[in-house]
Amino acid sequence: MISFFIFLVLFSIVSGDENARNFNDRASLLTFASRVTSDPGNVLHSWNNSSQLHFCNWTGITCNENRDSVLELDLSGASLHGTISPVISRLTRLTVLDLSRNFFEGGIPKEIGYLSGLKQLSLSSNLLRGRIPFELGFLRGLQYLDMGSNKLEGDIPLGLFCNGSSSLDYVDISNNSISGNIPLNEECDVKELRFLLLWSNKLTGRVPRALANSTKLKWLDFESNFFEGELPFEIVKNLSKLQFVYLSYNRFSGPLERFFSGLTNSPHLQELELAGNRLSGKIPDIIGNLSRSLVQLHLDDNQISGAIPPNISNLLNLTLLNLSSNSLNGTIPKELCQMAKLERLYISNNSLSGEIPLCFGNVSKLGLLDLSKNRLSSSIPDTFSSLSQLRRLLLHNNRFVGTIPTSLAQCVNLEILDLSHNHISGSIPTEFARLSTLKLYLNISYNHLNGPLPSELSKMNMVLAMDLSSNNFSGPIPTQLGSCIALELLNLSRNAFQGQLPSSIGKLPFLETFDVSWNRLSGKIPESFQTSATLKLLNFSFNNFSGNVSFPFLQIDSFLGNPELCSSSVLGMSICKNNTKKHFIPLPVLLTVLGIATLLMFLVPLVFKSKSKRKIVKMFSRRSSMYEEDDERKEQNYPKISHQELMEATGGFKSSSLIGSGRFGQVYKGILKDNTKIAVKVISYVKAEEITASFNKECEVLKNIRHRNLIRIITICSRPDFKALVLPLMQNGSLEDHLYPRGGVIHVNLVQLVSILSDVAEGLVYLHHYAPVKVAHCDLKPSNILLDDDMHAVLSDFGIAKLVKEEVEKFPVAGGVSGSPSASSTDGLLCGSIGYIAPEYGMGRRASSQGDVYSFGVLLLEMVTRKRPTDVFCYENSSLHEWVKTHYPHKLEPIIKQTLLNYPLVTTNATSRNPNLLHDMVLELIELGLICTQNNPSTRPTMLDVAHEIATWKEYLNS
Ligand SMILES: *[C@@H]1O[C@H](CO)[C@@H](O)[C@H](O)[C@H]1NC(C)=O
Ligand SMILES: *[C@@H]1O[C@H](CO)[C@@H](O)[C@H](O)[C@H]1NC(C)=O
Ligand SMILES: *[C@@H]1O[C@H](CO)[C@@H](O)[C@H](O)[C@H]1NC(C)=O
Ligand SMILES: *[C@@H]1O[C@H](CO)[C@@H](O)[C@H](O)[C@H]1NC(C)=O
Repeated sequence: MISFFIFLVLFSIVSGDENARNFNDRASLLTFASRVTSDPGNVLHSWNNSSQLHFCNWTGITCNENRDSVLELDLSGASLHGTISPVISRLTRLTVLDLSRNFFEGGIPKEIGYLSGLKQLSLSSNLLRGRIPFELGFLRGLQYLDMGSNKLEGDIPLGLFCNGSSSLDYVDISNNSISGNIPLNEECDVKELRFLLLWSNKLTGRVPRALANSTKLKWLDFESNFFEGELPFEIVKNLSKLQFVYLSYNRFSGPLERFFSGLTNSPHLQELELAGNRLSGKIPDIIGNLSRSLVQLHLDDNQISGAIPPNISNLLNLTLLNLSSNSLNGTIPKELCQMAKLERLYISNNSLSGEIPLCFGNVSKLGLLDLSKNRLSSSIPDTFSSLSQLRRLLLHNNRFVGTIPTSLAQCVNLEILDLSHNHISGSIPTEFARLSTLKLYLNISYNHLNGPLPSELSKMNMVLAMDLSSNNFSGPIPTQLGSCIALELLNLSRNAFQGQLPSSIGKLPFLETFDVSWNRLSGKIPESFQTSATLKLLNFSFNNFSGNVSFPFLQIDSFLGNPELCSSSVLGMSICKNNTKKHFIPLPVLLTVLGIATLLMFLVPLVFKSKSKRKIVKMFSRRSSMYEEDDERKEQNYPKISHQELMEATGGFKSSSLIGSGRFGQVYKGILKDNTKIAVKVISYVKAEEITASFNKECEVLKNIRHRNLIRIITICSRPDFKALVLPLMQNGSLEDHLYPRGGVIHVNLVQLVSILSDVAEGLVYLHHYAPVKVAHCDLKPSNILLDDDMHAVLSDFGIAKLVKEEVEKFPVAGGVSGSPSASSTDGLLCGSIGYIAPEYGMGRRASSQGDVYSFGVLLLEMVTRKRPTDVFCYENSSLHEWVKTHYPHKLEPIIKQTLLNYPLVTTNATSRNPNLLHDMVLELIELGLICTQNNPSTRPTMLDVAHEIATWKEYLNS
């Protein structure tokens, strides 16, 4: 009553002011502009410079027909900074005020509440602080209110929802620090409300019952707050229009039965997320009566117990079901196999027993199956051969017996296979080696596997990490393991391996961690381990190694329990008396000479005119050694025929010209006769038909495309047996080199990174939206982002880019199959690189611009965290973005702090004006990264939006 009275009083004041106000909307606009710091070139600058122009013609302004009043003011995404002047309230006819996606600071002026005709108010994605003024409750005609992603705090004012007659349709206050309850009671009336987005705040209390009167509600997002009490069943039973219900990460408690029965009245429900609450009791049978249109169901991380009800399989449209981290028991119902659209099934970390139903092999779209950390037993079914989409199979920490199923070898898209901590026995089947397509991680540790390692294991040349530890493997370690060239981690510890350690392993070009402790190996530790430039963690303990070792960076604990080892450099190890006395040459010199000699043997056939030894020593890098490893195979497959000019330019493709190596070939640097510095991309390495297709595609794409952020093609060299692209040489290498510099010291700063990101985004925008043929890049990652002399970024490597048909871009929300996948020679291979590929499980290999947006999001998160998305050990079998997401929103602070420490300090005018600027920017970049990496492709932003966002930051940082 009192507030209504105040309202009347204020209303009359405002109305009485009408004449005075009319004196000039133009003057009001100019006063508003004077509070905004204006960069040259931005919108408001043009206002000031167009004094002769009628204000109705200024950018962002829409007037009435008489051209005397402003109706709409839309300055969204205009890189504005400053404060919002209360003078805005003098534009009394205003219906639309959109200042979103700028850098406005300070508070929301309460005077906005006097704009009685306002229908749309958008202030989202700014740096606004303070409370939401209660005067906003005066806006009785308001339909659209978006204040998301600011730094607002305090309560939601009562009047916002309860002002007599609310026409609110869309309310977004998400991603602030708003606290208190949702102020809605039985007298309030928000009948028109369809969207209520309150995620990521500090809201408490129960969900108000009065929400049940908002029967048009479609989208309810309360995720990451502190709501409590039983799930609001008496509300949802009235809401028959619900499509998206997100209540995860709150403190809801109690059983599910009543809530689910309430939801059976919502026939359009598509996604239901209840993870991370305190829900208990059983999954009720009524779950089978939920909407058939349900696509995702998240019940993970609760205290739900009992068995999984078989009639969950009525939900035939489900693509994702997450029941992990509960207390479920009983067996896995075989009815789950009837959900033919299932792409991701998580049931890990429960107490399930019994066996895996054989029929899982028929769920043909299955991309991820996580049954880890249960009590499952019996043998793993040998029926997975038709799961061509399967990328992650996680069965670790169960009680499986029997042998490794050979049908797994048919799962050509497998990235992670984790069978560790079970009771699996027998030897590794040789058929298993056909799993040469396994890409990321093989973990079969802590089982009862025995016998020698099959040499076929060497075919797994895409695996980054292999853990075979704590089994009973015996015999020698096969030299051929040296062919698993992608390996970064190899753990063979706690087995019964005998004989010598093959030196080929020490030469693995990317190996960082190697553990052979607790075996029966003997002989010398090969030189290659000591000279490796990449190895960081080594453990040779508890074997029978002998001889002299010299590892300047290792301590005694890497060598324990090898009584025959001696060293003059490792502290705590016995000193090699005889050896050091016999030789007059100091050991390091001797080693260098030996190293050079070994190298020379390798390189003599390759190096044609290299005379200086110094050069050769320099060449002993990760890349040149990789080249040696591949050399033999390549020489056989591709006889040396190449364009004479390229031969001369690159010194005959000598290994010191090698500057990069990727999935489809090597890149050499060179100088043409006219002194142009070039990079020559020689297509090689994979099957012949793939080479041709990839090459032709790249040419086709590159021919038609010109943009300053895309690599320019100089010329093409194509013969039936030799294909190369000639590109300009980018002096500053790739982003990869700058994120993970060899010396460890990072030089690129956050301001430069944002500029690089902006360039990359612009390049993608061109590919997706403006190129003559629309193209998805398909393999976005740091090594494909090249930097010129001025650190401008260009995108390279369209080797597997695919032409995107426009209709493919707009596939349905539910991710159903649309159209037939286009046949291409890269069939069977997923588009993109591990870690950066979008999880469109079941969609297979189709290229899409949404896939690029996902990869861009991963890239963003990678730059912020400086963690490689391929680093499986960082994230416990989940992914980089899932890892970041678990910290979002309340635990991000340490990540942001670390980011600011990771990069060299940088100051610009903007950062000295606002010391918190970089912090805020990192936070926004993380948010943008998370938005880009959403699982549902259709909710990801377009590259246009993303590019705009980043360009805004870039501009602001440099202002
Ligand atoms: C201003 O806008 C009006 C109406 O839209 C248009 O007729 C007029 O040409 C514009 N004037 C200028 C200088 O652009
Ligand atoms: C809201 O619904 C309840 C019954 O569910 C009713 O008593 C109340 O009057 C309604 N409120 C409004 C404002 O319509
Ligand atoms: C499953 O989803 C598709 C597409 O969203 C829809 O056409 C179909 O009717 C749904 N099936 C059921 C049983 O609701
Ligand atoms: C599952 O757990 C419940 C208690 O939560 C227990 O009563 C029931 O016997 C268990 N069932 C099985 C098959 O272990």
